[in-house]
Amino acid sequence: MKISFAKPDQPRSGAVVVGVWNEAALTPAAKRLDETAGGAILRALSAASRFKGKKDELLPIVGPANLPVTRIILAGLGKADLANARMFQQLGGNLVAHLNSAGEQEATVAIDVGESSPISQTEAAAQLAFGARLKAYRFDKYKTKQKPEQQASLDRLTVTTTAPKDAERVYEPLDKTASAVFFTRDLVSEPPNVIYPETLADQASRLSDLGVAVEVLDEKKMRKLGMNALLGVAQGSVRSPRLVVMEWHGRPGGSGGKHSSPLAFIGKGVTFDTGGISIKPAAGMGDMKWDMAGSAVVIGLMQLLAARKAKVNAVGVVGLVENMPSGTAQRPGDIVTSMSGQTIEVLNTDAEGRLVLADALWYCQDRFKPRLMIDLATLTGAVIVALGHHCAGLFSNNDELANQLIEAGKAVGEEVWRLPLDESYDREIDSDAADVKNIGGGRAAGSILGAQFIQRFVNDVPWAHLDIAGTAWSSKDTATVPKGATAFGVQLLNQFVAQHYEKE
Ligand code: BES
Ligand code: MN
Ligand code: ZN
Repeated sequence: MKISFAKPDQPRSGAVVVGVWNEAALTPAAKRLDETAGGAILRALSAASRFKGKKDELLPIVGPANLPVTRIILAGLGKADLANARMFQQLGGNLVAHLNSAGEQEATVAIDVGESSPISQTEAAAQLAFGARLKAYRFDKYKTKQKPEQQASLDRLTVTTTAPKDAERVYEPLDKTASAVFFTRDLVSEPPNVIYPETLADQASRLSDLGVAVEVLDEKKMRKLGMNALLGVAQGSVRSPRLVVMEWHGRPGGSGGKHSSPLAFIGKGVTFDTGGISIKPAAGMGDMKWDMAGSAVVIGLMQLLAARKAKVNAVGVVGLVENMPSGTAQRPGDIVTSMSGQTIEVLNTDAEGRLVLADALWYCQDRFKPRLMIDLATLTGAVIVALGHHCAGLFSNNDELANQLIEAGKAVGEEVWRLPLDESYDREIDSDAADVKNIGGGRAAGSILGAQFIQRFVNDVPWAHLDIAGTAWSSKDTATVPKGATAFGVQLLNQFVAQHYEKE
């Protein structure tokens, strides 16, 4: 789908979309179109009395006889004083879904928000285009028999606004964001016979084209470093593990000080999680191809920071393994010595993500002395029980960092909800035989115990853990995310970086 911006003009072809505020208040563009269309809009509004211009409402009208357009679509904008970026993104996404299901090939959306709106016309136009692009994502490379009607029909979307050049300028970083989101969604969607540690590391290596320094550690190097927690997970698989380090230096110079030490992002990259010897039930096991989503988000984020030349130093570290049962697999009861020196009793081989993160986090903090660390992981089924599929679980040892993440999440529509850490939970993972065990005694507080485990490998540095098990993949469409891989976290962390660490 090609997206472009243009000055308002007489509609010439395809569908034309105009906005209507709450209580059926026409935007100036809608009024003008109504006049050109001989009152068709007002007639339709009086007949379709249920359309009130509320947010998410769409009302298609047959193209009037005197205009060369297929349809006029009235788009509800909601209350004018509540208009914001997210709302225009959602409108863009909803329009793409609607236009595709109607079989439209071409559409023009007139953005006309007026002076008093809390969002400028330029911003609204760019955000609508962004939402449209996000929603147009498809992962259909393995579908060889799609009929034309199963494919997207919409191939041209024009957003009209009085200053199209300005809109293009605002859209540019959003366009890059969408590309990074798609990169992440592609990686997560690929099947586990295609994406495994080696091939995922190859994908991360592509970031070097953008000026990211990428280093790939193989098994031998990791063994030398003492990463036995990560290696223990990998040992049941014929696919050999990798640890990928991606460095973006967007703020060179400034030796020492808080501006030069990097922000660190660490991702769980279990390219397939069978559970290992503590094997998972067959039903739904295919979902575990997306157990590498945390790593894919980190890779996508690093791509985005580099693509938009973010003025920040950042490092991404992803631990890539496949968790398989086999004669060489780790056993429940094994004790491994992690890179930190702490010993871990592995009582359940399905609690593997935390073992991977233990060494990845330790390595990251040891080598880079980061200013803060944020890890992302599809860590626990329990977080889905607690928070469902809307909010990700947030854990942090630092209130300021936690609040920044909560705010960033609200701004981009990737929300996080903070859950507690506490010494009393921490005691639950004391092991009789080693320093720590990788599960608690029962089913209680599963996500918290996972976070407590990770915290044992964090020293005195602001740290946050995002449990994205419920948000990495969606089984239903939302306004800007088609069902499937969501790339939840890319926009959140990009916003977090842009808002707090590039302007200082
Ligand atoms: N990758 C899973 C968590 C998961 C479950 C993600 C469902 C997405 C959907 C993780 O490795 C895991 O298996 N966790 C166990 C931990 C338990 C053994 C303490 C879980 O949640 O059951
Ligand atoms: Mn598991
Ligand atoms: Zn897992």
